[in-house]
Amino acid sequence: MVERTPWGNGIGIAGKKILFGVTGGIASYKAAYYCRGLKGFGAEVSPVLTENARRFVTELTFSALSGVHATTGADAFDPGNPFHHIDLPRWADLFVICPATANFIGKAAAGIADDLLSTMLLAYRGGAIFFPAMNGAMYENPAVKRNIETLTSLGHTVVEPESGPMACGEEGRGRLVSFDAFIHAIQSALLPKPLKQKKVLITAGPTREPIDPVRYISNRSSGKMGFELAWAAKSLGASVVLVSGPTCLSPPKVDEFVSVETAEEMLNAVKMHKDRMDCIIMAAAVADFTPRERLAKKLKKDAVGGMGLALSLQETTDILDYILKNRSTKQCIVGFSAETGDLVKNALKKIEKKPVDIMVANNVTEPGAGFDVDTNKVTLIMGKTKEIEELPIMHKADVALRILHKVAEVLN
Ligand SMILES: Cc1cc2nc3c(=O)[nH]c(=O)nc-3n(C[C@H](O)[C@H](O)[C@H](O)COP(=O)(O)O)c2cc1C
Repeated sequence: MVERTPWGNGIGIAGKKILFGVTGGIASYKAAYYCRGLKGFGAEVSPVLTENARRFVTELTFSALSGVHATTGADAFDPGNPFHHIDLPRWADLFVICPATANFIGKAAAGIADDLLSTMLLAYRGGAIFFPAMNGAMYENPAVKRNIETLTSLGHTVVEPESGPMACGEEGRGRLVSFDAFIHAIQSALLPKPLKQKKVLITAGPTREPIDPVRYISNRSSGKMGFELAWAAKSLGASVVLVSGPTCLSPPKVDEFVSVETAEEMLNAVKMHKDRMDCIIMAAAVADFTPRERLAKKLKKDAVGGMGLALSLQETTDILDYILKNRSTKQCIVGFSAETGDLVKNALKKIEKKPVDIMVANNVTEPGAGFDVDTNKVTLIMGKTKEIEELPIMHKADVALRILHKVAEVLN
């Protein structure tokens, strides 16, 4: 499970009122931690447990974690407050069901209100977010699939569970999503949509420049920053094209995902899409050099006869430079400047050569910043005004949101 550090990130969650429904699945033990996480990000959380959830976890745990009385069936017909089923849905900014059992999903799809939580769902005026978790065979069951489709058509959001080993000993799709994916979904639901109707192109990851069929030159980019930018742009309402070099990550849900390998392929993909974009964010670590020659067969060690090997490299096309020379003035162009020292000075120098609207500069040698980690520490420099904003160390998802909010300021 990926922790977001430090507590206090999780942009969009602080101050929000979240009704947190817990149903009777084994993943309810994880829900306790997720509830704690929302509280840690500054949300007000009001938990509601079904009677079957109480067989797995107690309301005491959820009351202690949320700091408020966790409601259960015992509160449903409380003469002291007979209107929990109306008051709490009215109070909530967001209604979350985590985990959502097959049973609860079925009841919600059918509009049944035979306990406190299902009654609250009918009394809630917005769309709720369901986090299903169940055995893989249950999740694949056509009745469950149909019920999930019905929930979506009713305006609810259903976050697909993950694949992997489950408590029942089987493998399959049905695991409750990770804490990170949970927080992503909550943020997406709560965040404003300043990029609605805007089109954003994002490049991500490294490129691979082949030497022969088995070897290549690449770099340490993991693609995390670019993928978080794609998620953040979607969450703020944009339609997103993500052009990515090879990574180990599963792509976020975007409007178009283009998988490329070399710098040249990335350039071609960018060329194809760039004219219809409102914003282009170049987060990829594109190779500056590529082998002059690509061998058709694997180069054998014996072939160099102990003499060492000199590779002849040629420069690739600078994609950011190409975009800047072929841009429309209405577009917002965002560049990245990975530095190992003199951060602001070097980034300002780069802006002179490459007049982007926003430059995201980071010192990749600092702990918690740069390649392959979940956090980043960046300085944002506005191209026109040279206004500088140094952000603290943050989860890359939150860095991405800060960048996209700046994009929205430039575009709107
Ligand atoms: C040990 C155990 C684990 C269970 N895990 C799940 C689960 O992960 N997902 C699910 O949909 N049902 C699971 N069930 C079945 C539900 O508990 C059952 O359908 C119950 O009626 C759900 O009640 P609720 O939806 O009102 O909370 C499990 C049952 C047992 C005994």
